Formats: sequence, C-alpha cells, structure tokens
Amino acid sequence: MFVPDLLKDKVILITGGGTGLGRAMGERFLELGAKLAITSRREEVLKQAAEEMSQGGKEVFYTPCDVRRPDQVADMVDRVIAHYGRIDVLVNNAAGNFISPTERLSPRAVDAVLNIVLHGTFYCTLEVGKRWINEKQPGVMLNIVTTYASSGSGSAYVVPSAAAKAGVLAITRSLAVEWAKYGIRQVAIAPGPFPTEGAWSRLAPTPELSEGMIRKVPLRRTGEKHELANLAAYLISDYAAYINGEVVTIDGGEWLQGAGEFNSLVDLPAEMWDKLAELTRQGK
Ligand code: HXC
Ligand code: NAP
Repeated sequence: MFVPDLLKDKVILITGGGTGLGRAMGERFLELGAKLAITSRREEVLKQAAEEMSQGGKEVFYTPCDVRRPDQVADMVDRVIAHYGRIDVLVNNAAGNFISPTERLSPRAVDAVLNIVLHGTFYCTLEVGKRWINEKQPGVMLNIVTTYASSGSGSAYVVPSAAAKAGVLAITRSLAVEWAKYGIRQVAIAPGPFPTEGAWSRLAPTPELSEGMIRKVPLRRTGEKHELANLAAYLISDYAAYINGEVVTIDGGEWLQGAGEFNSLVDLPAEMWDKLAELTRQGK
C-alpha cells in the first residue's frame, strides 16, 4: 500500500521505542526509509533492540532517558540532534500503567503513571517543539493515547492512566491550533487492545482477563502490531499533511460496543430473536 520511500530520510524519535508498539512502529518506519532514534530508561533493552532493528544497514540510534526528568529529556534530544543533525518527527509512546482499585493507590503510584504519561509527554513535546520553533523547522508530533481517553469515557481500575491520557489528548488538540503557524502538526492514535508484553503483564495477567479483552471487541480479536504501525506511518507522512489535531481510533470497534445501550444483544441466538419478535409486536 505504501511507496517504499514514504519516510525517506525522515529522522524519527520514538520514546519507549525498544519494546512493544514503539518498536513495531520503529521497524515499519525503517522499512519506509526513515532514520530512527529510540529512547527509554533501560539501556540494555534499547541496545538489543537497536542491534536487531538495524540489520540490513538501517540507521538506528539509541540513547537512554527517563522522560520524567526534564534534564534527561533535554540531554537526550541534544544527543539525537548531535547524531542526526535534526529531528523531523517525535512519537510520544512511552507510558506506564497497571490495573488497581483506585482506593488502593498510594500517591507515589498515582505519580508513577502521571509523571511518565502526562509529564513525560509534555517535557518531550516542549523540548522538541521549542527547538523546531527556534530553528523555524517544521515537524510532526504523534501521541499514543487510549480509547478511554479519546471516547471521553475514562476507565475504572486504570484511573491515573485515564487522567494522564486525557491530558495528552488535550495537549494534542491545543497545540494543533497553537503551533500550526510554526509548521508543527499534531496527531494521535487511540489503540484498543494490542497484546504486548508490557501491557499484558500489567493489565491482563491471567487467561480469563486476556480472553475477556477479546470478547469486548466486535471483530473478536486483538490488534496486530503491524496494523497500528501502518496507521502511524500514514499519519506522520506528508500524505497526511492536512490532518492536524485528529485522534484516530484503532480498536476493532471495541469502544463503540461498550457505548451502545443495546449492543450486548449481539450474542442473542436467532430463536430468541423469533420469540422477541412476537413479544415486541404485542405492544401494537
Ligand atoms: C498498585 C503499584 C503497582 C500495582 C506499582 N505500584 N505497581 N500499586 N498496583 N500493580 C506502586 C508502587 O507500590 C509504588 O508506590 C509506586 O507505584 C511506584 O512503583 P515503582 O515500582 O517504584 O515505579 P517505577 O519503577 O517508576 O515503575 C513505573 C510503573 C511500572 C508504571 C509502576 O509498571 C512501569 O515501569 N511501567 C512501564 C511500562 C508499562 O506500564 N507499560 C504498559 C503500557 S499499556 P509505593 O507507595 O508503594 O512506593 C498502556 C495502555 C493500555 O498504557 C490500554 C489497554 C487497552
Ligand atoms: P510497553 O512495551 O510497556 O511500552 C512502554 C514503553 O515506555 C517501554 O519501552 C518503556 O521502556 C517506556 N517507558 C516507560 N517509562 C518510561 C520513562 N519513565 N522514560 C522513558 N521511557 C519509559 O507497552 P506498549 O503496549 O507497547 O505501549 C506503548 C504505547 O501504547 C503506550 O503509550 C500505551 O499507553 C499505548 N497503548 C497500548 C495499548 C495496548 O493494548 N498494548 C492500548 C492502548 C494504548 P523502559 O521500561 O525501558 O523505560
């Protein structure tokens, strides 16, 4: 579907780019001609990912950073620019999350998630955005949120994540207006369930919880990482140049299934519908 040089020579910085969806996006961007920089806290994870991803002569630069630390974010961006000369696309993908009854959370647990997702995204956005504005350089920012942020519903049992991702969506939409005059475009993706080691170990750690994720999706399957990576490639490409401030949901229809009043009737057998047809006509 894509031309092979869709992202040719674009320098793309992905936070959390050594694992899961961040890595899948990076691999796809490389196939499409990009030069990649990946960052996260664990240097050994980044190193191994970079080695594997760069096979076949692809360019992958890794540099560790904790996005909760603005000083580390500034140094990380310095290192990427020292290596490649510039950044064209920032993908705010790093996140933290786990399921817990909210009343069991300590303030430190709340901070753990908010600091990575909301503050980390804000620090990276500011650090890269200020440089683009000063240098009069255009760019694209892609933020990975969740359907419980984009539908506005929030979600029980992941309340710090729901609050933080809603904040990230607010950043996306606010800066779409404020920074467009500098040639900076903002887009977001709201994924439904994609089984990654990082997410599943913290959000669906038993077979029952994992199977429950599938039952909630009208397409009756979870997402494939390459499906999200292809969407991301399009959104950051020049073909999406007029998309600004939009969040695209990729969830097999999951959040809509939860939203419609009568959607649970999808599992009723045909015989029951025959019976209901009689009963509902009696009201005439
Ligand atoms: C309750 C918990 C907890 C849990 C940690 N804490 N895990 N509380 N239930 N499962 C508490 C700790 O007790 C501590 O509080 C505080 O949180 C900080 O814990 P640390 O382990 O010191 O934090 P840290 O090392 O900074 O790790 C951050 C983390 C961790 C968020 C807790 O899980 C992490 O590193 N996550 C990164 C990767 C990730 O989460 N990926 C999933 C993304 S999926 P006290 O008070 O005891 O000191 C996603 C969307 C999914 O975001 C949507 C699916 C459809
Ligand atoms: P993941 O593999 O756990 O990805 C999270 C990444 O963030 C890791 O690489 C982690 O690396 C990095 N990270 C965490 N804290 C960091 C920090 N303080 N500083 C820098 N990097 C940090 O999980 P994933 O499923 O691929 O999630 C990727 C994105 O998709 C997240 O934004 C998530 O919210 C979103 N999402 C996922 C799903 C899903 O079903 N999988 C659904 C909706 C949204 P280190 O540990 O090395 O720091």
